[in-house]
Amino acid sequence: MPRCVVVVGLQWGDEGKGKVVDLLGAEAQVVVRYQGGANAGHTIVVSGQKIVLHQIPSGILTPEVLCVVGPAVVLDPETLVEEMKSLTAAGYEVTPARLAISRSANLVLSYHKELDRLRERGPGRIGTTCRGIGPAYEDMVARRGVRIFDLCDADRLRSRLREVLPERNALILHLGGSPVSLDELVERLMSFRQVLEPFLADTRALLWERFCKGERVLFESAQGTLLDVLYGTYPFVTSSLTTAMAAFALTGVPMPSDAAVVGVMKAYTTRVGAGPFPTEHDGQMGEYLRTRGKEYGATTGRPRRCGALDLPSLRYAAQLNGVSHLALMKLDVLSGLEEIPVCVAYRRANQVVETVEPSQLGELQPVFEMWPGWTQDLVGRSEKELPENARAFVERVSRAIGAPVAIVSLGSDRKDTILRFNIWS
Ligand code: IMP
Repeated sequence: MPRCVVVVGLQWGDEGKGKVVDLLGAEAQVVVRYQGGANAGHTIVVSGQKIVLHQIPSGILTPEVLCVVGPAVVLDPETLVEEMKSLTAAGYEVTPARLAISRSANLVLSYHKELDRLRERGPGRIGTTCRGIGPAYEDMVARRGVRIFDLCDADRLRSRLREVLPERNALILHLGGSPVSLDELVERLMSFRQVLEPFLADTRALLWERFCKGERVLFESAQGTLLDVLYGTYPFVTSSLTTAMAAFALTGVPMPSDAAVVGVMKAYTTRVGAGPFPTEHDGQMGEYLRTRGKEYGATTGRPRRCGALDLPSLRYAAQLNGVSHLALMKLDVLSGLEEIPVCVAYRRANQVVETVEPSQLGELQPVFEMWPGWTQDLVGRSEKELPENARAFVERVSRAIGAPVAIVSLGSDRKDTILRFNIWS
């Protein structure tokens, strides 16, 4: 019986992790977000009401769950306060009893967003979300970050910014942007102090305490394995560690031997931003998936690139994360396709490769199989009511990746989900 579950994306993000965390988090006592920032957009639909979360863990939608934001999340105070307000307006309780934010988390400030935007105008653009994530992580590891507890003392904040801002402003000027005023920045940041200070905590100690009590803890990742800064399609990646192993290193708790790792994947593939995507369909099929799957970014509204399921990349991601269970999302989107293209291997010259490293993706040719499709709408069906070919699709995916499919999602609402077995028990 695992006391700890990590939910991780196996593709390029947008797999539907928010829905899975919402479902599994309902049976947890603690939900932890451990990396990324406001570049993430977790969309959850509860009784027809759509909620998009960027920085606050999806567990906030379940009363009684404690949500924790770890020290390796980069927080934009401006949008964090907005997110808190809109959750409160939607009727969810956002109090220090429900949300603890690491005192050590680094801030994403206006100059990080400006730098991100300016770099994205250049030739080497990554297609970032322009939320300042890369520049904020650069500052964190370069030891020139501003941390959230710096907001608790105006003099300390001013002196820290006085140290780090001139160099950032010089870079902004060099890239053709407008420098940021120290006084305005301090004034703006201090306006968030009153709201944020009560939420700051020693999250490592808090998590350790909850672990010792034997509570169920769920770790929620953002983005996906193929966007990991070390193991993804570098340099077309985000700037954080997105894998399951990172959950423990980044929050300061030891990995329990019985942790379950739920790999979340869509029944096809999408990607936002630049970088290799060998199974991409830019014709009719891509448009079909984009329209039926409503594949537009939850954070930026950008149309997502769409393509076929990529089993060799999924095998890699499952292996890397130590996936124990799969959550197969958006199976309903495939309804209406007579045949479903699936990439089952890659070929280089005469060599066939069944598990692929992201760094090789640009050099290999995908090998497709056509799997039989179905015409029936799947929304609201139970497992028994699924058309035979849809059931066969689930089984083939499970066999190909080598892990059981515990969750099948057939629509955006909480109720449009097949829970094949309980991961917590
Ligand atoms: P950044 O994280 O904004 O720096 O963007 C780097 C890359 O990660 C870009 O290709 C983004 O489109 C992608 N990315 C970042 N966050 C997400 C996400 O939540 N879903 C999907 N792609 C993302």
